[in-house]
Amino acid sequence: MSLVCEHLSYTYSSHEGRIEALRDISCTVNEGECLAIIGHTGSGKSTLLQLMCGLISPTAGRVLLDGEDITSKSVRRRLHTEVGMAFQYPEYQLFAPTVAEDVGFAARNAGLPAEEVTRRVRLAMERVRLDYERYASLSPFELSGGEKRRVALAGVIATEPRILLLDEPAAGLDPAGRREMDAILKRFTQSGMGIVMVTHSMNDVARLAQRVLVLKDGSEVEQGTPLEIFARAEDLRAINLGVPQAEEYAATLREAGLPLPAGLLTLESLADALAALTPVGEGGTHGL
Ligand SMILES: Nc1ncnc2c1ncn2[C@@H]1O[C@H](COP(=O)(O)OP(=O)(O)O)[C@@H](O)[C@H]1O
Ligand SMILES: [Mg+2]
Repeated sequence: MSLVCEHLSYTYSSHEGRIEALRDISCTVNEGECLAIIGHTGSGKSTLLQLMCGLISPTAGRVLLDGEDITSKSVRRRLHTEVGMAFQYPEYQLFAPTVAEDVGFAARNAGLPAEEVTRRVRLAMERVRLDYERYASLSPFELSGGEKRRVALAGVIATEPRILLLDEPAAGLDPAGRREMDAILKRFTQSGMGIVMVTHSMNDVARLAQRVLVLKDGSEVEQGTPLEIFARAEDLRAINLGVPQAEEYAATLREAGLPLPAGLLTLESLADALAALTPVGEGGTHGL
């Protein structure tokens, strides 16, 4: 399963005028992979996600699901079952009196029988780490911000998409909530789901993405693996984006003379590289 964007452009037209939101964007997400989209506010990230799930149609270019144009009628039906979208702050759309009813809403709407909806609700809640027995009958409005976000995500997961589009899934969460989301998304990709994730967090990019698309004012700045993208830190700084925290620490330590290798994008890999510098059994610290 793959979702491919080919030379997408999109122009918003209204009585106030025309805004060219995207220009000639191409990218691919495959099953089991995470594609991160980064760029400043207004760079076209949300527009791209809306094109990918068929909510809006490109002014030019095509979106292909397994090689077939999603504007064709037969593919459109598959698109709705196979591509799921979680908007930014999806918890604002929670509405049902209980968590279980909210999580099951889209699956129920798709016409699935009640037992199947219940099975999926249980599974989806498990996959976002919400214990069914504990949460199913609670009101979603009694929950913490992070829990609400997970309820909303479970509602999308209950439709069992093969590709999941996420607009800033960790925005506004506290550090514990971010770690939880990170672990959840990692397990989604490990289970074979494809993820397209808009994010402002370079740490999330480093930890989750196999590919990165960098946008500026609707155009592609660059595209590649996190290693490739973060190796050109100056390109990112030029458009006011940073590098992962671990890479910043590593750069400081290299300046202090530590022979650390390039491409240390996560704190785990930085810790491993530091441990490798330390002679075994001596607890040496290379003069730090
Ligand atoms: N519904 C809309 N009508 C008109 N212009 C829009 C609309 N949505 C977004 N835009 C404009 O399109 C551009 C890209 O927006 P968006 O895709 O939301 O960017 P991002 O998600 O990266 O912040 C911006 O200039 C924005 O103002
Ligand atoms: Mg946006």
